[in-house]
Amino acid sequence: MIFCVGSCGAHNSVLLHKSIEARLQAAVSAVLPDANTASVLVRPCPDPKFGDYQTNALMALAKERKLNPRQLATDVLAKLDVSEWCEPVEIAGAGFLNFRLKTAAVANTLESAAKGEHLFFEKVAQPRTVVIDFSSPNVAKPMHVGHIRSTILGDSLARVLRLLGHRVITDNHIGDWGTQFGKLLVGWKTQLNRAALQADPIAEMERLYKAINAAGEADPAVLERARQELVKLQQGDEENLGIWREMIQLSEVQFTTIYNRLGIKFDYALGESFYNPFLKGVVQELRDKGIARESEGAIAVFSDGSLPPKQDPFLKQEDGEWKPNPALIQKSDGAANYATTDLATLAYRLETWHPAEIVYVTDGRQLLHFQQIFAIFKRWHPEAQTKLAHVWFGSILGEDGKPFKTRSGETVRLADLLDEAEERALKVVSEKNPELPEAQRREIARAVGLGAIKYADLVPNRQSDYIFSWDKMLALHGNTAPYLQYAYARISSIFRKGGVESGAAANTGGHVPVILAAPQETTLARHLLNFDFVLNAMADEYRPNFLCNYLYELAGHFAGFYENCPVLKAEPAERASRLVLCALTALVLKQGLEILGIETLEQM
Ligand code: ARG
Repeated sequence: MIFCVGSCGAHNSVLLHKSIEARLQAAVSAVLPDANTASVLVRPCPDPKFGDYQTNALMALAKERKLNPRQLATDVLAKLDVSEWCEPVEIAGAGFLNFRLKTAAVANTLESAAKGEHLFFEKVAQPRTVVIDFSSPNVAKPMHVGHIRSTILGDSLARVLRLLGHRVITDNHIGDWGTQFGKLLVGWKTQLNRAALQADPIAEMERLYKAINAAGEADPAVLERARQELVKLQQGDEENLGIWREMIQLSEVQFTTIYNRLGIKFDYALGESFYNPFLKGVVQELRDKGIARESEGAIAVFSDGSLPPKQDPFLKQEDGEWKPNPALIQKSDGAANYATTDLATLAYRLETWHPAEIVYVTDGRQLLHFQQIFAIFKRWHPEAQTKLAHVWFGSILGEDGKPFKTRSGETVRLADLLDEAEERALKVVSEKNPELPEAQRREIARAVGLGAIKYADLVPNRQSDYIFSWDKMLALHGNTAPYLQYAYARISSIFRKGGVESGAAANTGGHVPVILAAPQETTLARHLLNFDFVLNAMADEYRPNFLCNYLYELAGHFAGFYENCPVLKAEPAERASRLVLCALTALVLKQGLEILGIETLEQM
């Protein structure tokens, strides 16, 4: 017989909450052999007064079985031994278990992190294939601030899922097909200014579109011409296809410039036009399966009555009555539309990548569209296990609370916004560090300016609108990117002053005992331990703001520690231990900011 000493669970993890969870699950199985323990999890205690971790899973198990929850908690507790990591476990409230970590166990975890064994998180046990559809700007139109949220949110979600070990496929669903090309083609053929096109292709294409749009309002003949040009394009007219390709190519150059600036890459950029060959088949299949039907010459999907009206995306309430709200998948002129393309896209992704999950990042105005697409999909592929998620977000508002516009009332272009961010950041940086050479100040300003824009976008709850404020996002105090970048740079400067490599302090190879004596030291250390929870919560709920807030708190705990606990002037053992705390904080800050797509600087 082999005896296990120490961490002997089914799951032997370097992370304390995972080890505790494994023991807890084993104890639950011992008491309730038939229980599915997958949902028996520990979470950080909402109030540190009660401990570090908590589980509420026993109450749910007791409820299912009509057991007394406190009795179940008592029985599980009798089978649970976590004494090498925790103080005696407490039953609280209706049947919670509260776990308080022993300081020595916390210190141990920091020591293993310092040896490079982990950075307070673990790859998931079951990686999934996740397709993320984000950014998706439209050809011949400037990328505007509305696209910034999709681009930045989507990129951070891709980063966190990858870090956790999932197989992530990013796909930029570029709007390179649609009715706008009718007007664009008329404009191109009648008033293209080649010189202007060369100087600023998007601006010229935008001008053409606006000009024809205005002309069409005054003269229906212009609209008719646009319609004809569109039909020609759809029928494969060589001249129109050539112009269309040139418009795509010119737009892509601009998109790529912006993505490079933002440090964003896509695995695929399969635009809407990629799916054109499949559209007829999709419509036919949906008709054959009785999911879509003809209605006034068009083809549409109607409610099948399977959902309560309130949740049925094919119904809308009008004058107190539920009226049909069908999803159009073929217009009466035979043309497919945005919905048809999205259905074809779904089918293609399913066949090509067999994803467990597809995530769409767009603004909230597309809520109904995706509700309908997802509902159609369910009827079309009832067997599919793929989870479809619409990760939607609110608008960016100007300081006047109205949609964010330039002073002259134009839509703000993303490229201009990034320029201005860097310029404004340069002022901030120059005030703080007038002595640095200009090239270095510019480099810092680039990282700070872009970081500020990204962070301002990620820190609010994504579903609420937020007010775009340069002063707020560039502030060195408060929950901003510059504040976090500054916190990181400050730690780097401790290492410079002390003549120690931060890498050397963190990755000690050997063994530096971590001493957690001051309350600020334990608070900081315990916060580091929560990184894993935060990354998983961000990935599960598609909410980067969880990570923003965690990092902000981390920087705050570090500031508290640094004010109260001298580092470089401490006695040798304490100094070494505190340098480890500094280095681990810096590593987590850097890793966290990296997930948000934000660079860190050694000096600011
Ligand atoms: N191009 C669209 C827009 O700018 C967004 C596309 C989102 N993705 C999708 N699969 N529909 O509004």
